[in-house]
Amino acid sequence: MARGKQPSKAQRTPKVHRAIVTNTVDDFEAAFWPDERPVDNAVVMTMGALHEGHAALVRAARKQVGPEGRVAVTVFVNPLQFGAGEDLDRYPRTLDADVKLAEENGADVVFAPSVDEVYPNGEPQVRLAAGPMGERFEGATRPGHFDGVLTVVAKLLHITDPDYAFFGEKDAQQLAIIQRMVADLDFDVEIVGVPTVREEDGLARSSRNRYLSEEERTRALALSKALFAGRDVAAQGPKAVREAAAAALDTAEGVDLDYLALIDPHDFTEAADDFQGEAVLAVAAKVGSTRLIDNVRIIVR
Ligand code: PAF
Repeated sequence: MARGKQPSKAQRTPKVHRAIVTNTVDDFEAAFWPDERPVDNAVVMTMGALHEGHAALVRAARKQVGPEGRVAVTVFVNPLQFGAGEDLDRYPRTLDADVKLAEENGADVVFAPSVDEVYPNGEPQVRLAAGPMGERFEGATRPGHFDGVLTVVAKLLHITDPDYAFFGEKDAQQLAIIQRMVADLDFDVEIVGVPTVREEDGLARSSRNRYLSEEERTRALALSKALFAGRDVAAQGPKAVREAAAAALDTAEGVDLDYLALIDPHDFTEAADDFQGEAVLAVAAKVGSTRLIDNVRIIVR
């Protein structure tokens, strides 16, 4: 630039990474594989209503594949994983904001298909079954939920064909079951878990937090407090962990506890009293009419 000459507006404005938004499988494929270049690619599957937790997934995906690689974010509210009376209709749909968040964090393509695009033959007659791992904890309260999750995850893995797929550790049971599906059924993809993102006061980021009133949000802090209390005594063994977490919840007001459990992440069974190693301390509870889940990964001695 000649001395004294001001940069043009285009030169001053930082280059914004734009994501291509696609709604059909054909358009997605054309956008995600524009040429034959063999680059690493990654997918982040979501049901939309993206928040900082999803942003962390997209950033992790971008970091994994590098600037030359490709990152896809899928936005699809999957009816198969909602039971009767669950919040399918009330589930937030915020596509414009989702696209913005995805592209700001490094996504190249957003795939936001309709239900008919994903299930062109109507409700799938053949589905994946999560088996016993899908019947405990979340699965006990939400029968069939993980079968619905696995069915759509398998479909989206076939459509996006990624080297890596990123999922949040906040949905610990979902992550464990997807990892098991990939191992048991020889899917050619690496599943990567990304740590839970929390608000400053400890509340785990969740699309469902938006349903909480101010008072309920304060009450919901009891969940992470209980998990942290258990984590603080992890070196004293499973019994101490369970007791510390349960004691913190005992005094919590307005929290309708579903389960608090110390779990072996490999098969999602309750950890025995002599369990040692990496465990998941998980909690699920209703605060008002909103069901929340949270967990921490701890090393139990
Ligand atoms: O975690 C979610 O948002 C969903 O269960 C997933 C993995 C996108 C499948 O619909």
